[in-house]
Amino acid sequence: MNKRRIVLITGATGGIGKAAATAMAKRDYIVIIHGRNEEKTRQVAIEIQKISGNKNVDWIIGDLFLLAEVRKIATNFKKKYDRLDILINNAGGIMGKKRENTSEGIEKTIAINLLAPFLLTGLLLDLLEKSDEGRIINVSSNSHQLNANPDFKDLELKNNYTPLRAYGNVKLFLIWISQTLSEKLILLNTNNPTVNTLHPGAISTNFGVNSDLGILLNIIGKIARPFLKTPEQGTETIIYLATSSEVKNISGKYFVKNKLANVSDKYYSKQNKELIWDYCLEKTKIQ
Ligand SMILES: NC(=O)c1ccc[n+]([C@@H]2O[C@H](COP(=O)([O-])OP(=O)(O)OC[C@H]3O[C@@H](n4cnc5c(N)ncnc54)[C@H](OP(=O)(O)O)[C@@H]3O)[C@@H](O)[C@H]2O)c1
Repeated sequence: MNKRRIVLITGATGGIGKAAATAMAKRDYIVIIHGRNEEKTRQVAIEIQKISGNKNVDWIIGDLFLLAEVRKIATNFKKKYDRLDILINNAGGIMGKKRENTSEGIEKTIAINLLAPFLLTGLLLDLLEKSDEGRIINVSSNSHQLNANPDFKDLELKNNYTPLRAYGNVKLFLIWISQTLSEKLILLNTNNPTVNTLHPGAISTNFGVNSDLGILLNIIGKIARPFLKTPEQGTETIIYLATSSEVKNISGKYFVKNKLANVSDKYYSKQNKELIWDYCLEKTKIQ
């Protein structure tokens, strides 16, 4: 492969996403960072260009709470690029103690952490298939083991919502849709692109900082902060999945610290996994 590889990273204006974008720029990839605020995203792209000495750091804008904006990101990306080698669906986070819907009527945790990566991946799949070695990397969390407790008749938690429960659920669902996509691609006799998920570790970023999680979790968050790892340390497994030849044929797996890890099977059934895929299809109306 002599062509410079192209990587798109969502939520790259801060935290793990920005650190991953910087690391990829230093490795001479063509890097497109995504953000929701034009000025902030442009500034971060310029900062990464300076730090890395790589002029090929571009930016793209869209609010991932909204499916219409996800569509806009994909359309604008396709106006500039006709191939994508690596898609890192990194943007995500935990919402506040009060359950909120987006203006499109979808619960916010599920909108940004599950439906946005599902739709963006679907819309960019044709460009990823054009890569010699396409890779989709979805940033999940060990919260899928610690906090998930889904109600399969109430996926958006209209009842008994808590921010941690909603977050744990969507990170589990993100792993399931990644596995399903990988299985579907393999059934089509292609392992290109591969699709893998990971837990980045407990990392000191803006994660949860602006969400009112309730008094107890707010206090725990403040106490834990000095013990967390740096955003750079949080990129370890992302960069491994994006760049290592060891994983070029591995798909549908979950990684922690550069190693294959077990996915919680507590809520797993074939039907539940299919139900989540069908929910994503129905909400995003992607073909
Ligand atoms: N930090 C941890 O300990 C930890 C642990 C496990 C998993 N993770 C996962 O790692 C990923 C990165 O998290 P982080 O810790 O780096 O969090 P972060 O510092 O809060 O960064 C999140 C990024 O996502 C962007 N973002 C948030 N809402 C958005 C929206 N509606 N539209 C577009 N962009 C949006 C943010 O943009 P703005 O700059 O505009 O806010 C920011 O660039 C997330 O998926 C998170 O769930 C984190």
